[in-house]
Amino acid sequence: MAKHDKTDIGISTILNPVPVVMVSAANMRGDHNICTVAWAGTVNSEPPVVSISLRKSRLTHDYVDETGEFVINLVNKQLAKSCDRCGVRSGRDEDKFKTCGLNPVPGKGLQYAVAIKEAPVSISCKVISVTELGSHDMYLAEIVGVTADSYLLDDNGRLCLDKAKLVAYNHGEYFLLGEKIGFFGYSLASEDVLKRRMG
Ligand SMILES: Cc1cc2nc3c(=O)[nH]c(=O)nc-3n(C[C@H](O)[C@H](O)[C@H](O)COP(=O)(O)O)c2cc1C
Repeated sequence: MAKHDKTDIGISTILNPVPVVMVSAANMRGDHNICTVAWAGTVNSEPPVVSISLRKSRLTHDYVDETGEFVINLVNKQLAKSCDRCGVRSGRDEDKFKTCGLNPVPGKGLQYAVAIKEAPVSISCKVISVTELGSHDMYLAEIVGVTADSYLLDDNGRLCLDKAKLVAYNHGEYFLLGEKIGFFGYSLASEDVLKRRMG
C-alpha cells in the first residue's frame, strides 16, 4: 500500500491537536469551580474573542450562565494531572480547587470568575453570545484581561510562551509541547533571521 492511499475513517470531531484548558468560573455566591475544556479556540483578533463549548450538564455551564464570566487557564506539565481530574469529576461532587491543591485568585477585569494561581497564563473572558449547537452550547467571549507568570517575560517584557511548557490534547491523550521547528513566516526567512530565531 502506498503511503498516501486513503481510507474513509468516518465522520467525527477529529481535528487535532487542540488546546486543553482549565476553565475557572464562579457563581454569584462566591463558589468557585474548574472544568477541563478541549473545545476551545480563538475566533477573532480585534476585538480578541475566544470560544468555549460546554454541555448543559456541566456545573460550569450554570456558573458561566449566571455571571457571564469565565477564565481560561493554560495548562503546563505541573497542572496536567489536575487538568485531567477537573475533566472527570464534577464540581457538584467535589471542590476541585481543594482536591487538586490549587488556589483561586481574582480574575483580572472580572467581578465574579476566579483564575487559577498556579496556571502560567490566565485569560479573563466576558460572554458576548451563547449558541446552542446540539450536544454543546458555544460561548463566544471577549478577552478583558490576561495575566502571566513573571518568569515567562524576558528583559524587554516580551512573553516567551515556549518557557511555559504547555500541554496539547491529541485524540484523547495529553502531550507536552517540545521541539520548536519553525516560527511565523520562517518559510520565507533569511539565513540570518533563521540563525537568530532557531539557534
Ligand atoms: C481532556 C478533556 C476535555 C474536555 N473537554 C470538554 C469540553 O470541551 N466541553 C465540555 O462540556 N466538557 C469537556 N470535558 C468534560 C468536563 O470537563 C467534565 O464533564 C467535568 O467533570 C465537568 O465539570 P463541572 O460539572 O464541574 O463543570 C472534558 C474532559 C476532559 C478530560
